[in-house]
Amino acid sequence: MKWLVGAVAVVLLAGATALLLNMRQRHHEIEQRAAWLTGGRPTHGRELFAHYGCGSCHTIPGVRGAGGMAGPSLLRFGQRTFIAGQRRNTPQNLIAWLQHPQHIEPNTAMPEMGVTDADARDIAAYLYTLN
Ligand code: HEC
Repeated sequence: MKWLVGAVAVVLLAGATALLLNMRQRHHEIEQRAAWLTGGRPTHGRELFAHYGCGSCHTIPGVRGAGGMAGPSLLRFGQRTFIAGQRRNTPQNLIAWLQHPQHIEPNTAMPEMGVTDADARDIAAYLYTLN
């Protein structure tokens, strides 16, 4: 009987390890793809939300304290078809939106925040990991 419990434990452990490795690999692939699409660094982008205060208006998965309700939730943003209902969700359009939302949609509640080109790329990279 004991050997059976031992065997089951080994099988479960092996399964859990394989699952974990698979999830890490998948996450890594998603990050690489987002970086390739935008020319930005997703891990740095994630840190920039606090710097620009995006979380005061948006709920952003994976970002501590980002629970704002003034703007739309950015949950699964990588799957969206449109940005602010205005432009197709392409890397170029997203980078432009982050830097100059008022040019794209005059009078939107989203302010111009002086986001630099490099920062916009990094933020866009993070947003495209949200699948
Ligand atoms: C003062 C509130 C406010 C702040 C601060 C703000 N946003 Fe927004 N954001 C909005 C609103 C409101 C919209 C919706 C615009 C619309 O649809 O007209 C929006 C739209 C967006 C969208 C498009 C979402 C969609 O579903 O189409 C993205 C992406 C976005 N914001 C990212 C950011 C990022 C990144 C920052 C920080 C650099 C930021 N926002 C800061 C209010 C804000």
